[in-house]
Amino acid sequence: MGKLILSLFVLSIFLNASNIYEKNCVTCHKKLPVTIDKYFYRYLLKYSSKQDVQDAMLKYILNPSKDKTVMPEAFILRFGIKKPTTLSNKQLEEAIEIYWEKYKVFGKLK
Ligand code: HEC
Repeated sequence: MGKLILSLFVLSIFLNASNIYEKNCVTCHKKLPVTIDKYFYRYLLKYSSKQDVQDAMLKYILNPSKDKTVMPEAFILRFGIKKPTTLSNKQLEEAIEIYWEKYKVFGKLK
């Protein structure tokens, strides 16, 4: 019984929609016409490894700029460059880790 309660507890944390990524990134990205996974795959194509993808995203989100974007020019002309994040470095790292876990495809590749 204790074990069951514990696994339910762990499951609820896992499914909990109020983590930093859902609260910060997704709430804003939900309003955009391009879903958040599209950006992720563009980063993955360009940077390949987990370390490089996460570093590039961290740099971009801390200080977005035209010369760092992975998005096509037409997209940026239409939607503009995003504002720098209000999260601390640590919160941002956590958010990017969750983002990574959510969309990484390496585990699914054969
Ligand atoms: C206030 C709104 C807002 C928040 C909060 C936000 N984003 Fe964004 N994000 C945008 C917009 C708008 C764009 C498209 C413009 C651009 O690429 O700069 C974007 C673009 C991106 C891109 C593509 C960057 C590129 O190369 O152009 C990534 C990756 C991304 N967001 C991830 C995140 C993550 C992860 C978080 C949470 C830590 C987050 N965003 C929080 C609005 C937001």
